[in-house]
Amino acid sequence: MKKSFNSICNKQLVINQDFIKAPDCNKLIFLNYKSGNWIELDEIGYSMAKSISGSTIKAYLTEVAKENKTKYSYVAKIYNESIEAMLKVGFLVVADNNGNEEKKKNKLPKETKASFEQIWIHIIDTCNLSCPYCYFRARNVLDEGGIKNIDISLLKKFLNQIPLWKRKNIVISGGEPFLNKELVTILRLLKERLRFPSVKIITNGTVGHNIYSQVFPYINGIQFSLDGIKKETHEKNRGAGSFEKTLMGIKKSVSLGFKNIIISFAVTEDNIDDLLDFPAFAKGLGIHSVHINRIIRTGKNMNKAIGGYFDSFDKNYKVFLKKVAELKKDGYSISVSNSFEITQKIKIGGKVVSCGVGKKIISIVPNGNIYPCPSLHYDAYRIGTLNDKLNSIIKEGVCFNRQHNVESKKTDCYSCKYKYFCGGGCRAEALAEGSINGSMDRCKNIYSDIISGICYSEPFI
Ligand SMILES: C[S@@+](CC[C@H](N)C(=O)[O-])C[C@H]1O[C@@H](n2cnc3c(N)ncnc32)[C@H](O)[C@@H]1O
Ligand code: SF4
Ligand code: SF4
Repeated sequence: MKKSFNSICNKQLVINQDFIKAPDCNKLIFLNYKSGNWIELDEIGYSMAKSISGSTIKAYLTEVAKENKTKYSYVAKIYNESIEAMLKVGFLVVADNNGNEEKKKNKLPKETKASFEQIWIHIIDTCNLSCPYCYFRARNVLDEGGIKNIDISLLKKFLNQIPLWKRKNIVISGGEPFLNKELVTILRLLKERLRFPSVKIITNGTVGHNIYSQVFPYINGIQFSLDGIKKETHEKNRGAGSFEKTLMGIKKSVSLGFKNIIISFAVTEDNIDDLLDFPAFAKGLGIHSVHINRIIRTGKNMNKAIGGYFDSFDKNYKVFLKKVAELKKDGYSISVSNSFEITQKIKIGGKVVSCGVGKKIISIVPNGNIYPCPSLHYDAYRIGTLNDKLNSIIKEGVCFNRQHNVESKKTDCYSCKYKYFCGGGCRAEALAEGSINGSMDRCKNIYSDIISGICYSEPFI
């Protein structure tokens, strides 16, 4: 039970025995596998927690004030923040009458409500590039001779059902969104008529530079996919001639003074070494946000494009984060987000039972089909279409989420010790490795992912 400092000053506290010191780690990190909470302490903090345990905060602070011949209020002010942090995560808890940890009913969070924090809208089927790893190309309806552009009036009818106060983030993707001639109309609809507070576009940056100035007033962010810092590496997957064009797109956005430009790097074994100098490269372009994408093996040519590169990825990603930290130390503001979630989950703390698939995220494709995630565009997982009532999509999405989150007995995650820290990773990745309910290659690194998530956690955008 989490309590705040003042309300329990006189109560006997104990260290919650569910917190276990992380082994093989040179820092004092304590993990609670039952709650998904963690805390990193220094020697002084840990010794303070041990002194408070079995006693009260008031008794401890009175003693410290006496020893240092100073006022209680002065000591309380100094220690307040650390003690609050320990109470917040439940590292220090109220003792029962026998001096043991008070046992509360351990209520698990139920994923019953859909919030649709991120609605992906794939507005076009076609693309001018053909990246082998592309999740969209792997599943798009064009392969079946389907529709090219999204139907704007159907989209409007569907999104209009979402109450105004529940409208949050839209991600415009494709195919290549700048190839859709109605892009500006769609953006105006989303921002002005439907009043979504955040609309972001993901683009390969090779086309549409001439309409940037018409597009920017209606978007909150533009994310360029740049898969390397060199022509050879980027073009290995994105095709000849694409590097210069994407750079032109980025430079044009910078020159137009657009603020929220993100460059996104899909790491494969072909470009993994470029990760090391990616922060300096971003700085050279005047970019302040970078996104690192770990490939989900949904593309048509996956075995070639990636394959067993996780260990070198982890090694290079750590160096990358160090270089980001160095840039920040030198006064360059740069933020990092990533698609492998753990860092973000770790920062939030507490039980995480899924990535939000179907519940916080849905994905709409040009023929109107709706899926629980952009990487799960499979008939078997379709949760409806743009013609459906919102309530039906919510029901199906939540149902999908329940069946595949870490509290579902059907999943391998259910019996995994790390489940509340991991949140079940990415179910699309699990599917690509064999079963949507299975564990994955990367699970072998989960402990080190958790620890590095704690040690290197970054603010996310
Ligand atoms: C499908 S693309 C569509 C937008 C645009 N054509 C582009 O390339 O940015 C959206 C993003 O998904 C990423 N992506 C595609 N396939 C992926 C996969 N299998 N795993 C991870 N990211 C993927 C791309 O690198 C790109 O940044
Ligand atoms: S990742 Fe983007 S640019 Fe590449 S094929 Fe897919 S849609 Fe096209
Ligand atoms: S480490 Fe693997 S098995 Fe464990 S919760 Fe995460 S995805 Fe599931």
